[in-house]
Amino acid sequence: MENTCSRKSFFLSLILLGIMCIIYRIVYKIPLGGNLTIYPHLWGNILHPTVDLSNQHVKNLTEQNITPIKDTKHFLVSAYKDHRIDGTIRIISIFRRDDVRRLYCIIGCVQQEYLVTVTEVDIHSDHFGFPYQTTDLLCKTDPKCDATNVTISINRSTSDIPDMVFLPIRNRERKEHNFKHNFTVCISNLFGSYNNVLQFVQTIEVYKLLGIQKVVIYNTSCGPDLDKVLQYYREEGTLEILQWPIDQFLNPSKGWNFEQHKGDLHYYGQLTTLNDCIYRNMYRSKYLLLNDIDEIIMPYQHATLEHLLEDLQRQNPTVGVFLIENHIFPKTLFDDTGRFHLAQWEKVPGINIMEHIYREPDRKHVYNPTKMIINPRQVVQTSVHSVLKNYGDTLRVPAGVSRIVHVRVPLQGTLTKEQLIVDTKLWEYQEDLVPNIDSVLNKSGIYD
Ligand SMILES: *[C@@H]1O[C@H](CO)[C@@H](O)[C@H](O)[C@H]1NC(C)=O
Ligand SMILES: *[C@@H]1O[C@H](CO)[C@@H](O)[C@H](O)[C@H]1NC(C)=O
Ligand SMILES: *[C@@H]1O[C@H](CO)[C@@H](O)[C@H](O)[C@H]1NC(C)=O
Ligand SMILES: *[C@@H]1O[C@H](CO)[C@@H](O)[C@H](O)[C@H]1NC(C)=O
Ligand SMILES: *[C@@H]1O[C@H](CO)[C@@H](O)[C@H](O)[C@H]1NC(C)=O
Repeated sequence: MENTCSRKSFFLSLILLGIMCIIYRIVYKIPLGGNLTIYPHLWGNILHPTVDLSNQHVKNLTEQNITPIKDTKHFLVSAYKDHRIDGTIRIISIFRRDDVRRLYCIIGCVQQEYLVTVTEVDIHSDHFGFPYQTTDLLCKTDPKCDATNVTISINRSTSDIPDMVFLPIRNRERKEHNFKHNFTVCISNLFGSYNNVLQFVQTIEVYKLLGIQKVVIYNTSCGPDLDKVLQYYREEGTLEILQWPIDQFLNPSKGWNFEQHKGDLHYYGQLTTLNDCIYRNMYRSKYLLLNDIDEIIMPYQHATLEHLLEDLQRQNPTVGVFLIENHIFPKTLFDDTGRFHLAQWEKVPGINIMEHIYREPDRKHVYNPTKMIINPRQVVQTSVHSVLKNYGDTLRVPAGVSRIVHVRVPLQGTLTKEQLIVDTKLWEYQEDLVPNIDSVLNKSGIYD
């Protein structure tokens, strides 16, 4: 009797709780799908015109790429002015999906004021099941505020400002042409003790011959020889290295799928760094190539990326996202002639991509995954193989025009050489390529 009674009240409380949850979600306009969007008009903008900044020093302006939001589980990465949406400030962040609460933007203005507005939270749609996810925090500004730095707080009060850590706001000037670079490669992530020096140097040197000016890499950790090569390229000016110590803040996953690989965050935060790379280079580079460290986006009918993009863009003026198919060259199959089995490369750690000329054929009913060349000014949010939000159109480039040369473990490992396609595209660059690779390996101390 007593038992039935407590069971009844238990179910009654459950039902009540459910109703309360729904009411809460309706009042705060939380969509039932789970993504939280806080609409700024619920609270309106609050301006604090009287906060005097003259005694505050810039010591709390951070250059770090990962900054915890105080008293929350979230992290700030970087802040950009987005000229496409009225100069709203977009903060790229890493957001714990279940830590849902109202957040405030505290914006430092040149006018010696702080503007406090309610943050709009836009969680990217591709979280692959991980608890942490790339998220845009959007801060509306006011024409009266020329914003220079920003932070996020759970408190709308400005009294703690001297203790807050602010991010500089980048991209304050908009540009539509005369970019510093035409082609920049974004390599989202370097982690573990990755020491594949030969493939890395060969890849960068091929890319230089194809006409790229800059490579951006997010570094969590790497092997000792690769570290030397990275430092060489940084001094030479090809490489921008951004430190990405994500493992000091979270338990990043080594894989892309939560069910399988566990951890807090997809693949060392690859999605976050890719999105950061787009905004960081929005007004520096005409095009960005988004690919992994062991992939080369290779034109097959043009000598350079410049000529490829000139043609593609002329034929498709509204396209800002070009999808390029990935094709596997198994590292287990070698060219029989040994033509590029060079003595000086034997002791260099890593794969010699010039020796792997066998390409796996397309499979029936299997869609080759893609990587991208983008016009960053047309992209709002990206995933790895396609973009999530953009302004213009997308084109899947035919593999005969451009494909990714990806030397790695085979996908179709049972196929023999006779069943693969001989593809010596890389050899066309040998005359310049081999001496350039040697020069880098020598100057960076790998031959010592
Ligand atoms: C933020 O910007 C304002 C206005 O430019 C400036 O006075 C203030 O020192 C900056 N704050 C930090 C922490 O850099
Ligand atoms: C917000 O800041 C005020 C003033 O410092 C403080 O009194 C209040 O407790 C804070 N609220 C929260 C939620 O931290
Ligand atoms: C970029 O391409 C244009 C032609 O489209 C060329 O005039 C310019 O010199 C190139 N810039 C760089 C940095 O290579
Ligand atoms: C990459 O990160 C590791 C770990 O923080 C560091 O030891 C190494 O020097 C970094 N390499 C470069 C080239 O920045
Ligand atoms: C490395 O460079 C030095 C000095 O320029 C040169 O004497 C040497 O032959 C080079 N070594 C190799 C293996 O290319």
